[in-house]
Amino acid sequence: MWGSSLSTVVRPAARHQAYLGRRAYIATKPFQGAAAALALRKPIPAQEPEPELPLTEVDGRRVAVQWSSDLQSRFHHIWLRDHCRCSECFHPITKQRMLDTFSIPADIQPRAVDATGEGLVIQWASPHEHTSLYPWSWLKNNSYDPQQFAPKPDWQKPIIWDNRTIRTRTPTVEYYDVMENDDALYDWLAKIKKWGVCFVRGVPADLNSTEALARRISFIRETQYGKMWSFTSDLAHGDTAYTNIALPAHTDNTYFTDPAGLQIFHLLEHTGGTGGETLLVDGLHVAREVRRRYPRSFELLSQVPIPCHAAGDEDTFYRPDPNSGYPVLSVDASTGEVWHVRWNNNDRSVVNAVHPDLMEAWYQAIRDWNRCLTEPSAEYWVKLQPRTVVVIDNQRVMHGRAEFTGRRQLCGAYMGKDDFMSRLRVLWEKGEAGALDVHERRNVWSPGL
Ligand SMILES: [Fe+2]
Ligand SMILES: [Zn+2]
Repeated sequence: MWGSSLSTVVRPAARHQAYLGRRAYIATKPFQGAAAALALRKPIPAQEPEPELPLTEVDGRRVAVQWSSDLQSRFHHIWLRDHCRCSECFHPITKQRMLDTFSIPADIQPRAVDATGEGLVIQWASPHEHTSLYPWSWLKNNSYDPQQFAPKPDWQKPIIWDNRTIRTRTPTVEYYDVMENDDALYDWLAKIKKWGVCFVRGVPADLNSTEALARRISFIRETQYGKMWSFTSDLAHGDTAYTNIALPAHTDNTYFTDPAGLQIFHLLEHTGGTGGETLLVDGLHVAREVRRRYPRSFELLSQVPIPCHAAGDEDTFYRPDPNSGYPVLSVDASTGEVWHVRWNNNDRSVVNAVHPDLMEAWYQAIRDWNRCLTEPSAEYWVKLQPRTVVVIDNQRVMHGRAEFTGRRQLCGAYMGKDDFMSRLRVLWEKGEAGALDVHERRNVWSPGL
C-alpha cells in the first residue's frame, strides 16, 4: 500500500512557497498495474485545524480528486503540467501561455502530489524541477472528466421562442437606462443573448441617437452598405431591402464568410402609406421543430453547404470562403445544439455541389425548413414605431417585412458577434467580482482562460 512507499522529500525553493504552508511533502510513486485499485492518500493532519481537503488518488496517467462521496474528477498528468498557472508558465498580465507544451514529456509523472488548503500542489521532476498549484475551485470548474461542473451565467442558456412566448414576454429595455447605467446595459445584452432579439424603447428617432445606442455595445461593422446605414425604398443599393416588396424571413450576410453578429434597426419614419410590418422568427425554434418532425431533413440542413452571393452592386461581388458556402444550420460539436442559422433563399447561388443522390432529399429538407419557418405559431409580426429600436442576433433570429406603401425610412447598423460577446462577458465579470481593479477582477484563475 501507499504507506510503505511514501517518503518525505525536501522541497526545493519554489515560487509557490507562499502557497505551501508548513506541511511536509509526500512523494507519490506512479501507480503501477492497471488492474489494481487506485490508492487513496489522505492529507497529513496539520497542527492547526484545517478545512477538510479533497482526497486525491494518483495512478500512472492521472490524478483523481474526490469532491464528495459520489463525485470525482480525473486529470491527466500531461494536462496538469500543461495547465500550470505559475508566472513562469502563464503570463499573469497578458494571460497567455508561456510554457512550451511540447517540452513536456508525453509520459510525465508527478514526483509529489499534495492536497493543501490552497489547492492541489504537484511537484514535477522532469523535464526540470517545477512546482504547480491548482486551486480546488479552479480544478472543479475546469473538470473535463466528468465535464461541466462550472456554474454558467444565465444568458448562456437560450430562451427558444415561438409566437406565443415572445408575445407574452417580449424582451424590452429602456433607452435611458441602458445609456446611463451599466447594470441596465448588462441586462440588455443578456436579453439579446438569451432571446436573440430585444426591443429598446424611448430612443430619439434620429440616426445619431441610434448610433450612440449601438456604440454602447461595441464597434459598428462597416460593410458595403456603410457604417450606420439609413435607407428608403430608393434602390440605393442593388438589394431587395432597398425596395418596398415583401421580404420573407431571412438572416443577413449569408454571402459573407462571417455574417454580422447583431443587426440593429430603427424605423425613423413611415408616412403616407401602410404595411411594412416586421417579421421575426427564432431560428432555434424552427431548427428544433425540423429536428423533431423531419430528422433526415435536419441532418441535411446541418450538413449540406449552400453557396450564396451578393452581386447587385457593380463594384462589389461577395461570396463566402469557401465558395461552396455553409450549411443552413451549424451544430456545436460539443453540445449537439444548433448555434448558427444562415438562411436567405433569395441570396442562394446555383446549387451544384449537392450529391446527385441527395438532390431531391435536399429540396425536401429546405421545403420542411420553410414549412416550419412560415407556420403562424413561429412567426412574430410587429409594427415597428419610431423611438423603438430592435436588436437582432443575426446568427440566430430571422427577420423579414411585409410589403408597404408610402415613405418608410429606417436606419441601423451591423455589429460583430465577438465584440458584443466580449462586452457582455466583461459586464458579467464586473458584476461577479464587484468594482475591483481589472487585475484583481481577472486573474490567472478566472473562468474562460
Ligand atoms: Fe435583412
Ligand atoms: Zn509553472
